[in-house]
Amino acid sequence: MDKVFELIQREQNRQNSTIELIASENFVSENVLKAAGSCLTNKYAEGYPGRRYYGGCEVVDELEEYCRQKWQQVFATDYHVNVQPLSGTHANMTAYAALLRPGDTILSLDLQMGGHISHGLPISMTGRLYNIEHYGLDGRGYIDMGSVEDMAKKTQPKLIIAGASAYSRIIDFERFARIAHENGALLMADIAHIAGLVAAGEHPSPFGHADIITTTTHKTLRGIRSALIFCKQEYARKVDSALFPGMAGGPHMHTIAAKAVTAEEALTPEFRAYIRRVVENSRAMAAEFTRMGYEVVTGGTDNHMFLLDFTRTHPTITGQMVQQALDSRAITLNKNSVPGEKRSPMQTSGVRIGTAAMTTKGFGKDDFIAVAHRIDEIIASLPRE
Ligand SMILES: Cc1ncc(COP(=O)(O)O)c(C=O)c1O
Repeated sequence: MDKVFELIQREQNRQNSTIELIASENFVSENVLKAAGSCLTNKYAEGYPGRRYYGGCEVVDELEEYCRQKWQQVFATDYHVNVQPLSGTHANMTAYAALLRPGDTILSLDLQMGGHISHGLPISMTGRLYNIEHYGLDGRGYIDMGSVEDMAKKTQPKLIIAGASAYSRIIDFERFARIAHENGALLMADIAHIAGLVAAGEHPSPFGHADIITTTTHKTLRGIRSALIFCKQEYARKVDSALFPGMAGGPHMHTIAAKAVTAEEALTPEFRAYIRRVVENSRAMAAEFTRMGYEVVTGGTDNHMFLLDFTRTHPTITGQMVQQALDSRAITLNKNSVPGEKRSPMQTSGVRIGTAAMTTKGFGKDDFIAVAHRIDEIIASLPRE
């Protein structure tokens, strides 16, 4: 036991002493931790409130129902919500299982362009089970809605996915929905990254447009590591049964409790103000990199992250080199492929930078600008060959 708690303490020290710029990470509140570390981990509750396979579920029934209602409030929606997914990938696989048959076509953004593994990478189960087609980015790095339309006509997908892991611009869910529905497809919005912005009104909402919406709860929502699935009421039964018994056994009730706390926090004015600061900070930092001569993909950002592309400005420098150099100086970020990437995913020609985590720690624009200068100094000290 000592060993485990010593490692936890070391990780706590690491988190306290590094500048965290990974766009998918954040720092949760004490209350989220308390709920996740509670006695609810002891409870089996296969099924749904009022329809469980075990006794003693009266408290967890109330908790799950409360959690569901709070998340509907967060997104001001009457969509059905399932709060049992364990992670973003689990939520996405469940969404596909609910709406598709193996072999059906999914149209999504390629991982190399900013998509996610669970959007159909060949080595993921999602890529093995379904026929995956991709739309692309335009020359500036924006999602090319013309290519979404062309590919939808050409490939006649059953499902189109609007959502990304490394994309810094507004996603036009309304237009995606129009294209999907005109071509007989359903639209799934994966808002894992931008959910906090959607909740705070800083990004247009997919509710009312997408047929099914998945999200993680641990990125800009600043909550427990977990996920949610929302869907139009007509797909509620399919989604619920795809999750249990289709893709899971007992729900993690301790995580559902922590997700309820996450929702309560997302409903506060403080959270809205926090998200506004996250976006302001991201814009300020991206603008500073541009001023220093770096290439920011699309020239800027509308959300909590942006990508630096070294291809033209620092042709001998890779994302991997920058990630490693920063790691040793207590700045954490991740290498990332850039549009038109020529290097392997292990090397890449860019890095992804996010402001959600350090904004939680109280960083403002000036702090992020200072970090941009520090990163520039470290990049300038790298060997050029
Ligand atoms: C767009 C998107 N969807 C899904 C996921 C998967 O989330 P998880 O890591 O919880 O499986 C991620 C994670 O980075 C993501 O960026």
